[in-house]
Amino acid sequence: MDNRPIGVFDSGLGGLTAVKELMRLLPNEHILYFGDTGRVPYGTRGRDIIRHYAKQDMNFLMQHDVKAVLAACGTVSSVASDIGGSLSVPYIDVLRPTARAAVNQTKNGRIGIIGTSATIASGSYRREIHKIDPNIEVFEQACPLFVPLVENAFVAPQDEVTRLVAQRYLAAIREKGVDTLILGCTHYPIISPTIRSVMGRGVTLINSGREAAAGCLEILKENDLLCGADSRAEYQYYVSDDTDSFFHVAELFLGQSVQGKVERIDIE
Ligand code: SIN
Repeated sequence: MDNRPIGVFDSGLGGLTAVKELMRLLPNEHILYFGDTGRVPYGTRGRDIIRHYAKQDMNFLMQHDVKAVLAACGTVSSVASDIGGSLSVPYIDVLRPTARAAVNQTKNGRIGIIGTSATIASGSYRREIHKIDPNIEVFEQACPLFVPLVENAFVAPQDEVTRLVAQRYLAAIREKGVDTLILGCTHYPIISPTIRSVMGRGVTLINSGREAAAGCLEILKENDLLCGADSRAEYQYYVSDDTDSFFHVAELFLGQSVQGKVERIDIE
């Protein structure tokens, strides 16, 4: 048993998709979140910068005595998959649980993957899928505008700008006849109603934030790190830029107030 918080980080708001699922799966656990809103997006940057940022993010969480680190960021998980190896606590990322969920889900063996430019260029999800089943056909598409749209709160299902961008990005992958689509960046589930309406009801969307949270639950159980039954969950959010836009999207997406729980820090 361990009553320390779970540490979750992302380049910005996207990791809240993992937080939301952690809250549902593990309602007693304390969660400490860091969103690097001052340096988002990561997905258009080079490998060395992404690694440097990810190390700083993890160090910040470790300074707060977390019992596990969840990298709720598709880009860090893809480009720096070895980065958690040196930590003294369990490290979980989005890749393996998400690939496993997609392989379990597909019926026709055709899986689409969307992610940031860095994630798609890394080929990481493709490799993970083929480790499980080399016969699956994979179709990939980078969607770099989705992250700024989410960070700037263009998240309403009826938002015309987001819909037009989604139609442009998803047209090719839709024509491939995939029955399963990996939302390989944790920001994307925040606009999943729009993505779903473009892809059609016959395509199952795999939420990488949700799958990462389920992976985290498994690891905490295996390592006997779940908190006590009498623990009352506390949530604390840190960001590296102004808190205004974080407040707006976080409350909308999590469906609960984050008033008094968000603090701006200097990650450098
Ligand atoms: C980004 O910062 O570009 C997106 C993070 C992610 O890939 O989940």
